[in-house]
Amino acid sequence: MQSLPVNHFLSLQRPDVFVPAAAGTPDMSTLAAHDFDVDTRTGFMPPQPPIARLPTAWELWEATLDDAISSKLELADKPGLSQDDEERSARWRTSVRKLPILSTEAIKTSEILLRRAHCVLAWIMHFYVHTTPVSEMSIHIPAPVTVPLLQVCAQLQLPPVLTYSDDVLYNWAFKTAPAADGHFVPKDELYNLRCNTLFTGSRDEEEFYLSSARIELRGVEALSLMRVIMDEAFVNDAIAHRRITSYLTELAGVVRHCRQLLGAVRDGCDPSVFYNEIRPWFRGCDSDTRGRRWVFDGLELDPTLKEPTELSGPSAGQSSMIHALDIFLGVDRYSHSNFKADLAASSSASSSDSSSSDSSAPSTPLTSVGVLAPLPAPAPAPGPTPFLTRMQKYMPRHHRAFLRHLHANPRPLRHLVEAADDDALRAAYDEAVTALKEFRDEHVRIVALYIIIPARQAQGAAPKEAGVPKGTGGTDAYQFVKGVRDQTAGAILGPKTA
Ligand code: HEM
Repeated sequence: MQSLPVNHFLSLQRPDVFVPAAAGTPDMSTLAAHDFDVDTRTGFMPPQPPIARLPTAWELWEATLDDAISSKLELADKPGLSQDDEERSARWRTSVRKLPILSTEAIKTSEILLRRAHCVLAWIMHFYVHTTPVSEMSIHIPAPVTVPLLQVCAQLQLPPVLTYSDDVLYNWAFKTAPAADGHFVPKDELYNLRCNTLFTGSRDEEEFYLSSARIELRGVEALSLMRVIMDEAFVNDAIAHRRITSYLTELAGVVRHCRQLLGAVRDGCDPSVFYNEIRPWFRGCDSDTRGRRWVFDGLELDPTLKEPTELSGPSAGQSSMIHALDIFLGVDRYSHSNFKADLAASSSASSSDSSSSDSSAPSTPLTSVGVLAPLPAPAPAPGPTPFLTRMQKYMPRHHRAFLRHLHANPRPLRHLVEAADDDALRAAYDEAVTALKEFRDEHVRIVALYIIIPARQAQGAAPKEAGVPKGTGGTDAYQFVKGVRDQTAGAILGPKTA
């Protein structure tokens, strides 16, 4: 792959442990860092391992989180919860209510401290909510959590709930430090990662987060390819088309590897452990199957704070990497549309069994040669904001800005491919979209294995989720991921007709 000019704003590296700042040189890279926080070596992951502990001024939060983890708090709706379990979590919740309301003034000056504060407080809040007895229909989040969490969220422009960035992007450390010689190769470090914070302490939980982290790191190469393709698109002549063709083939290879990494979650994370012991901790207010309300106590203590409205739990639907691929390939017009499964997601579960209509074949019509006939872009249906667009509110704001920037690309790849009379280019574009569609085929299988099947088994034992199993983001999980997969298939161009 050709490299970008060294002064290209996306080529600039931030000085850090791997790349010390050259003496006397201004740090021009802050343009990339501040605007997008997308690193040339780690992509949407931060270039340095995230801090695992706040400074001592906020030690009380860290200690409270440590206490929840070391006390092995159990979910309030765990079958056979003992009295001892209930008392232990009640004691811990009392300790949370008794915390002083710590000031966040000094945190506000540092993005790194803000991120860790969001992590710690959101993690405490999820422990608090999900250990609260199920009989309580209004869950009161105590002021010592509400006030600092909402203040931190106002700075970060994030909802006050656990997000993918808390679980994945900012929740890792290297097992062994890579050589600090500036030659950090993300794809060599995929198995050199561990997590800082876990609800259950299990390997299954860690592997669940790390499978996403590996996809983020592997995807860094996809980001580099997007950059060089954008440069070639600017030139837009026959040689540029040849180069784009070859980059798109490489891009398809990266996405296929991401698909393998997704499928490999099976190696370390048991579906029934995931469904019964890990996933319930993630539930946001949206996916509370009992319809309980979350009440944020203490809002009156800071007049700048507002009642939160976005309270979906963490979902890899918040991965900027996958959104970036969609946007870059021009698939988002299809996959992010407000199609009917998305609408179903926002209504209460009404259909009887989401999995009965399963078919691994896409709903897109096949042509006589077995190629998926392109669908016209679906007209946006009136109604609520599409789920995937809503998920962007849960991404770090710089990443959101990056996606907006990508969206505003004045030379969209798909238009270029459609306009060019170049069969090889068209085939390479389709290969990349097909790789993304196949990533989603794997994802559909994973959702069936990790949610639909265990949900059925659990319904036999003790019905936890009445009706359609929902995603942590509150969607009708299976129909939704299948719908997005089918919409991706709909973006395949197929051979040009005369
Ligand atoms: C055991 C592993 C996984 C399970 C059970 C799972 C489950 C789900 C569910 C239920 C949804 C529906 C949205 C919601 O309500 O949250 C979803 C969406 C999504 N997930 Fe996953 N997921 C898994 C792993 C991953 C990984 C590793 C990635 C990639 C980093 C990923 C990427 C996405 C994306 C991009 C969406 C939005 C729909 C789409 O664009 O296809 N998922 N996932």
